[in-house]
Amino acid sequence: MMNQTPTPQNAAPVIAINGLHKSYGQLEVLKGVSMTAPRGHVISLIGSSGSGKSTLLRCCNLLENSQAGEILFEGEPVRWKGQGQNRQPADGAQVTRMRTNLSMVFQQFNLWAHMTILQNVMEAPVTVLGEDRAAVEARARDLLAKVGIGDKADAWPAQLSGGQQQRAAIARALCMQPKALLFDEPTSALDPELQQEVVRVIKDLAGEHRTMILVTHDMRLAADVSDHVVFLHQGVVCEEGPPDRLFGNPQTDRLRQFLSATMAT
Ligand SMILES: Nc1ncnc2c1ncn2[C@@H]1O[C@H](COP(=O)(O)OP(=O)(O)OP(=O)(O)O)[C@@H](O)[C@H]1O
Ligand SMILES: [Mg+2]
Repeated sequence: MMNQTPTPQNAAPVIAINGLHKSYGQLEVLKGVSMTAPRGHVISLIGSSGSGKSTLLRCCNLLENSQAGEILFEGEPVRWKGQGQNRQPADGAQVTRMRTNLSMVFQQFNLWAHMTILQNVMEAPVTVLGEDRAAVEARARDLLAKVGIGDKADAWPAQLSGGQQQRAAIARALCMQPKALLFDEPTSALDPELQQEVVRVIKDLAGEHRTMILVTHDMRLAADVSDHVVFLHQGVVCEEGPPDRLFGNPQTDRLRQFLSATMAT
């Protein structure tokens, strides 16, 4: 989705990754990856299992360490201490600011089982951001209504379908009023008919020009909502571009193979 003309204050991308390297021990998972999420844009990350999509997403909000390369949040580079395997973020306040502004939605929803849906949505804004409880509750109820489960506020997660739980998880992420939403295969754990209700919410968010990075195996969703698609293969960006070109006219054999394998299933 195209954004309005950027003003000088918001010209910096919400997230920019430059030449990121990430290893787990001897296994090099990201081999110099660069990716940019401009404000108001939806970036989809596609690629086969093990290509490093989740790792890249988790590096974006510093849930994972990386060994080299830059991560910038709204133009502000993450400050590091140490080098290589010992590198880690130097500034705890910066880490908290980034994490609270880059809300993650996981494949398995990760709702707190011992809290009601409303409590799940309210938890982080109240405890992490220290916001006023009444204000957060009003926002949380609005968000639950927005994702179509306003009547489930007092239910427990186990009482909801997978599609409803995932919509609750999206409301929870939105309640933080983040600068970007990071989705890691938000529909993969759901039956096809439940996927559609989550897809509808993601499309609505894209229509509102929310900044999003979306890891997905759903090529139709990626084609429908993305401004830009990044195809990761074995830890490198193999091909990237607007969805009509990537899906309509792939340039590399790797991407052609991936698309024909994915479309066949
Ligand atoms: N905590 C970890 N420790 C060691 N290796 C890991 C860890 N997490 C991921 N890996 C490895 O890193 C590589 C990339 O994993 P990642 O989860 O990023 O892939 P992915 O593209 O998200 O795959 P999928 O589509 O299956 O979710 C894989 O080889 C995986 O086994
Ligand atoms: Mg993954």
